[in-house]
Amino acid sequence: MQLNGKTALVTGGGRGIGQGIALALAEAGADVAVADLDTDIARETSARIEALGCHSTPFQVDVTDSGSVNKLIGDVVSTFGQLDIAVNNAGIISIKSVDALSAEDWDQVMAVNARGVFLCTQAELGVMRPRQFGRIINVASIAGKIGFPDLSHYSASKFAVIGFTNAVAKEVAAEGITVNALCPGIVGTGMWRGEDGLSGRWRQPGESEAESWERHQKTLLPQGVAQTPEDMGQLAVYLANAEHVTGQAIAVDGGFSL
Ligand code: NAI
Repeated sequence: MQLNGKTALVTGGGRGIGQGIALALAEAGADVAVADLDTDIARETSARIEALGCHSTPFQVDVTDSGSVNKLIGDVVSTFGQLDIAVNNAGIISIKSVDALSAEDWDQVMAVNARGVFLCTQAELGVMRPRQFGRIINVASIAGKIGFPDLSHYSASKFAVIGFTNAVAKEVAAEGITVNALCPGIVGTGMWRGEDGLSGRWRQPGESEAESWERHQKTLLPQGVAQTPEDMGQLAVYLANAEHVTGQAIAVDGGFSL
């Protein structure tokens, strides 16, 4: 599968899953715009892509802000001349029981995960529709298919992404544009690893973060091992090529959601 001559954008591309997807799209031949809230890490991903001999430019964006998102899409088109593939990956998580959840906690997660995907998709369609071509990939989660305790706000945001993806796919299906959701299971990024990650926060008494990470992989995943950013990159490359797959929410979760 080749993406030569295509331009891709990955939000939250500075690290983790977004970085894995950005690298995979570049390895398949695409020029890649790497956008992140954190400009330094966007630069690092772009430098890794350039080191592969591919073209990449870093951009700063806050996906919750419509002005910032519209500027990003304008800058990507002025830099690369077009936008063919957009991966709306930026996302955040927090862990709180529904009793402890404040309206601010709810709004913060919904703003990045749901509103951010909406704002990016809308702006991306603005440049894809006139060309009658586009591939939009919204990074959701298996938490958008099943609920998890202490993640009700996160699950709600990811269910929203999948519903939005399905509806928009139908709106633009006749215009050469596909819209799909990619649903990771458990990936050992900053979202899971470290003291503030899920494996740090969900430790049992006396357990180290590394032991908690091992336990979660063994107990939650039928395959016993976490997925990787590279796994997500493989599906993104497939969806970037596929002409007749749209409106789907595809899990890459080693059987977690079965
Ligand atoms: P991560 O925390 O390592 O990376 C997230 C990236 O998004 C960071 O580079 C961050 O700077 C950026 N970001 C955060 N807020 C932003 C904003 N307002 N505007 C622009 N960029 C922003 O997380 P990870 O694990 O790579 O997650 C990527 C996506 O995958 C998220 O949407 C997450 O919900 C989803 N996901 C992750 C899973 C996992 O196991 N790690 C499982 C299921 C879904």
